[in-house]
Amino acid sequence: MKNALLEVTGLSKHYPVKRGLVLSKTVGMVKAVDGVSFHLMRGETLALVGESGCGKSTTARLVLRLIEPTAGSVFFEGVDITDMAGQPLRALRRRMQIVFQDPFASLNPRMTVGAILEEPLIVHEIGDSESRKARVNELLGLVGLAPYHASRYPHEFSGGQRQRIGIARALAVEPSLVVCDEPVSALDVSIQAQVVNLLKDLQARLGLSYLFIAHDLAVVKHMADRVAVMYLGRIVEIAAKDTLFARPIHPYTRTLLQAIPRPDPHRKLARQIAGGDVPSPLNPPTGCHFHTRCTFATDICRTADPALREVAPGHATACHHAEALPLLDLTESAHAAAPNAAKRLALYAEKRVTATAAAG
Ligand SMILES: Nc1ncnc2c1ncn2[C@@H]1O[C@H](COP(=O)(O)OP(=O)(O)OP(=O)(O)O)[C@@H](O)[C@H]1O
Ligand SMILES: [Mg+2]
Repeated sequence: MKNALLEVTGLSKHYPVKRGLVLSKTVGMVKAVDGVSFHLMRGETLALVGESGCGKSTTARLVLRLIEPTAGSVFFEGVDITDMAGQPLRALRRRMQIVFQDPFASLNPRMTVGAILEEPLIVHEIGDSESRKARVNELLGLVGLAPYHASRYPHEFSGGQRQRIGIARALAVEPSLVVCDEPVSALDVSIQAQVVNLLKDLQARLGLSYLFIAHDLAVVKHMADRVAVMYLGRIVEIAAKDTLFARPIHPYTRTLLQAIPRPDPHRKLARQIAGGDVPSPLNPPTGCHFHTRCTFATDICRTADPALREVAPGHATACHHAEALPLLDLTESAHAAAPNAAKRLALYAEKRVTATAAAG
């Protein structure tokens, strides 16, 4: 993809499973991430969704070069960073940052917020003591905190404020890519809206690109430009947000979207998907990983891996029967009408209006 900020091709991470304490031998492989490809444009938000254990965080860590891939490549700002090491890799760390789910666990309790925010500047040898102090104040302001917060410790803040500190720390070194790994799932719903809106505003102001991992489809709907759906280490569908929410193709995406509660229990919409648990990534089903839970599965699904292929411009899915599946049209705002999701979306929008008014 031309001019993409981030381009990932065939990325895999396989972990050996060992047995035996002394002469341990490898008895299998967990394919945490298995041949994932996607791109992210500048200023764009790509959401990564899927059930627990499908490989979202592992993908994020691979992109950030925190772990080594088993296969595949990562291009960042047009440069192949897959095998980068030493000084170039350290310099690269300035350009890509991460915001974690649990801000309390990721902030050092013994450091003041000022010291926490200054640390990345010191590590990357940015500015002198005075200019760093000024930058810390600027960062606090950027995330809606005040200069006097710099002398306090993480435990003196609320969950939402702590996540603001986590965001400020990520932004300290002026990255262009920010990976957000479930950044609001640990927060109270009303606080979630503030933090999600803060992330959105910062993106608009600073031109950030987000790889945004989330369980919560209401948050994804509010944040994302495009959505990639993962299942057992693979991307099974990727499309623009509106397309994906309105006309999902892959049977697994349909399951995810249909899991959102519906407003009218009498409305006839046959559940097309069987339930069941996610199979183990240690021993995933042959062929299409989803065939064990899919009511559309046929022989070919049990034997052949479906490739991720484009079925419409910008809309790709990995299903042998993509063209033959009955159309599932969720356009009539089925998601927005779901009581909880609707309330939350309204709340996000409302907070956004108030925040903009206050800022203006
Ligand atoms: N260091 C590791 N060693 C062995 N297996 C691992 C390791 N890290 C992750 N895995 C396995 O890889 C799979 C994907 O894990 P990952 O953390 O990426 O999932 P996730 O999609 O982020 O899940 P969640 O939504 O629960 O955060 C899981 O089955 C996990 O057990
Ligand atoms: Mg995770």
